[in-house]
Amino acid sequence: MIGDREVGRVGFGTKRLAGSNGQDAQEQAIALLRYAVELGVNHIDTADFYPSYGVSRPRGPSSAGSGPHNDFVSLGWANDVVRRALAPYSDDLVVATKVGPTKAGLARPDQLAELVERDLRSLGRDVLDIVYLRQQGLDSIAEHFGVLAELRDKGLIRQLALSNVRMQHIEEARAIAPVVAVQNRYGVGFGRVNDEVLDFCGKEGMAFVPFFAVTAAGREAGGVSADDTVLAIARDHDATPAQIRIAWTLTRGDHVLAIPGTGNRDHLAENVAAGDIHLSPEQVAVLDALTDQS
Ligand SMILES: NC(=O)c1ccc[n+]([C@@H]2O[C@H](COP(=O)([O-])OP(=O)(O)OC[C@H]3O[C@@H](n4cnc5c(N)ncnc54)[C@H](OP(=O)(O)O)[C@@H]3O)[C@@H](O)[C@H]2O)c1
Repeated sequence: MIGDREVGRVGFGTKRLAGSNGQDAQEQAIALLRYAVELGVNHIDTADFYPSYGVSRPRGPSSAGSGPHNDFVSLGWANDVVRRALAPYSDDLVVATKVGPTKAGLARPDQLAELVERDLRSLGRDVLDIVYLRQQGLDSIAEHFGVLAELRDKGLIRQLALSNVRMQHIEEARAIAPVVAVQNRYGVGFGRVNDEVLDFCGKEGMAFVPFFAVTAAGREAGGVSADDTVLAIARDHDATPAQIRIAWTLTRGDHVLAIPGTGNRDHLAENVAAGDIHLSPEQVAVLDALTDQS
């Protein structure tokens, strides 16, 4: 469940829709989204600023900090292709979108209504199924979440969710309005930083929606995180490492809903099929231990 909507355990994230398809990217993305629905996907995770990726560039002499600087590059057409591919939407399809990031950094609270309006237009909806507040760097999200709660009260949004948050943010938001899902990074060998949030979601009836479950430490750069242990388990199942990574996240609870991102038709089919892979308790223990050590 994601709030009051029932969805399959494996959904589809639109961040990687551009893939490496060049000029034909949008047409191929439309075909890919329709194929996802044919395969049974009924949970699409999107954002008006997708597809997007990070580009590392060296810091200039005057910039603060050390190491490369990550620029956020947004192609900004994912919602358009979701609408072109799937509208009019079937009743059992859940389209979750997110607001927060802009080219100038995190939106101010007074900018959120305009971003929600933009989502309504680009997705071609009167009411958005689910809107995540995708925060970055805030100690308190109360003001931002309060604005989204008002938009929900006005009937523009059915259900609210949070992304990139810590426990304190979840508690703060739930005092303002119901939160149906939390979307944070989570994957094999990718640390335990979100375990408390994942477990809390399970206890409180919220979905936990992991991102970077396939690419893990690859983060924005994408690809599948390489690991010999994962590869060996994949061989045992005649599966791929990406499938094992997805299957492991699903072992963390029935409330975990995967949203792997891909621009590749074969990978999409593999990812959906990963929902049927049953890891043995021993395999889960090995992958758990790998994650404990990271
Ligand atoms: N809330 C947030 O802050 C946030 C941040 C990031 C992502 N997200 C959401 O979470 C979704 C998932 O995250 P993500 O897309 O960044 O990362 P991901 O799903 O962990 O991994 C995507 C990468 O793995 C590759 N891949 C996927 N399936 C594969 C397979 N079966 N075999 C081989 N390679 C495979 C993709 O390349 P190919 O195209 O070649 O398959 C892509 O490079 C996103 O699409 C987005 O909806 C949310």
